[in-house]
Amino acid sequence: MSTVTPVSTSTSQRKKVTTLTFRQKKERGEPITMLTAYDYPTAVAMDKAGVDSILVGDSLAMVVLGYENTLSVTMDEMLHHARAVSRGAKSALLVGDMPFMSYQVTAEEALRNAGRFLQEAGMDAVKLEGGRDRVDAVRRIVGAGIPVMGHLGLTPQSIHQLGGFRTQGKTASAAKILLEDAKILEEAGAFSLVLESVPARLAEYISKQISIPTIGIGAGAGCDGQVLVTHDLLGLFDRFTPKFVKKYANFHTEMNKAFTVYIDDVETKRFPAVEHTVEMSDEEWNEFLRNA
Ligand code: KIV
Repeated sequence: MSTVTPVSTSTSQRKKVTTLTFRQKKERGEPITMLTAYDYPTAVAMDKAGVDSILVGDSLAMVVLGYENTLSVTMDEMLHHARAVSRGAKSALLVGDMPFMSYQVTAEEALRNAGRFLQEAGMDAVKLEGGRDRVDAVRRIVGAGIPVMGHLGLTPQSIHQLGGFRTQGKTASAAKILLEDAKILEEAGAFSLVLESVPARLAEYISKQISIPTIGIGAGAGCDGQVLVTHDLLGLFDRFTPKFVKKYANFHTEMNKAFTVYIDDVETKRFPAVEHTVEMSDEEWNEFLRNA
């Protein structure tokens, strides 16, 4: 049982979290917290709760838009949701996830699309998947002053190449490539790195070998921070739950209950009741009837 009392009612504005905060937290050994959001009310609640960073993830495709994987979501859809999040969150570091095919073709196109996240959607940084193959894009974007978060391990935009949603880096040779990629991204100027679904001891090793913070998802406790897909954490996404997710609520069941009760209330005429109803004065009503 958790002993933490929710403190989400605070009205005072927190200091803005920046990429420098990320680095300082790593230096001090303080865990960095990150969650995904795709809409205004979730962003408001998360920001008030004090999360360090919000990722407008391309997981949007699956958990909000209902696609099978993340490949179908477009730049325009990502920007639409990123704008809603930036209207709600004022303190967390906001990271826009670059969707499939928005950064793979040329470094110029990658820069142009990264710029849109900052210029049109109020994001503070962008995230993109891949290591050595994406280094030109990372350099180009960072060179324009846009902070880049890398993403290694299970990179969902490559599921067809990876053969599905599978843990990565489980062999010595795959682990070596992951470590090299982490160093390449650090060298290219990435400010942080997501490590998704990799063995815990490898993630911890990589985290100690690079100076930029690692944010783990299914990568154990040795990373410098943690991220979860909010719809998994809240139990809102009922299709499947990865093994590494801790469910903090069961909103899908709660929603289902609420909808069932509402339907019953309407069908049995318990809703709307008097307290949900607006009235007008007898005087106005009688005047209305006289002239109707
Ligand atoms: O899109 C997403 O939500 C992500 C996280 C899983 C890190 O990339």
